[in-house]
Amino acid sequence: MNQQTLSMRLERVAAHVPAGARLADIGSDHGYLPVALMRRGVIAMAVAGEVALTPFYAAERTVRENAMTPWVSVRLANGLTAIEPEDAITAISLCGMGGETIRDILDSGKARLSGQERLILQPNGGEQPLRQWLMEHGYRILCEEVLQENLFDYEIIVAERAESVTYTAEELYFGPLQLQARSPAFVAKWQRILRLKQQILRNFAQARQAVPEQKVEEIARQARWITELLA
Ligand SMILES: C[S@@+](CC[C@H](N)C(=O)[O-])C[C@H]1O[C@@H](n2cnc3c(N)ncnc32)[C@H](O)[C@@H]1O
Repeated sequence: MNQQTLSMRLERVAAHVPAGARLADIGSDHGYLPVALMRRGVIAMAVAGEVALTPFYAAERTVRENAMTPWVSVRLANGLTAIEPEDAITAISLCGMGGETIRDILDSGKARLSGQERLILQPNGGEQPLRQWLMEHGYRILCEEVLQENLFDYEIIVAERAESVTYTAEELYFGPLQLQARSPAFVAKWQRILRLKQQILRNFAQARQAVPEQKVEEIARQARWITELLA
């Protein structure tokens, strides 16, 4: 993967960035996503935010080597503090982090959100708490995808601020749109997770020390939901 050839995961994220966007890619690491989108002429400008020094330098190098310095600003910053009002950002990507981390970045930086930005989120797990945050902060999920790459399941969640929307507990768990679409990748993902949950429940039953009832009940409920989903 590089700034020309993105991974399939980042390629699918790129597909949700609107043409002409002013993109903030937070947790940009190597900066491949904003540089690839600039090279393709898809976006107008980008901010690549990084909290850690090594990836910050890597992003600077990618930008420099691609002569993108006037259009891609690399900033050493925690979360959304990379964004300034004068950037007039219209899309924010947060990819390759846990869903809880993405949620925490959005929550602690919410004063920097104008409400006009499209959020393109690619959590590695923790999708449920992330969707919960989106719902509680007036975001509607516009698009969802599940894809598998290198034996990992990845989800992409695209959201925009809209009139308030309420999702059920199952919708927050599986994804409201994925629940309707039931793509082959989505079904395969949940078949794998069901096998895992069933194994966990068997391990609980054999455990020497009692597992808290609440924990068992939670996993059992999830296994029931998945079984019903796949029925
Ligand atoms: C696994 S990499 C993902 C890189 C790229 N977004 C991708 O999807 O390929 C996660 C990156 O997020 C950065 N990161 C984690 N927390 C962050 C925060 N609060 N603010 C900015 N960057 C953060 C890490 O330093 C790391 O480089």
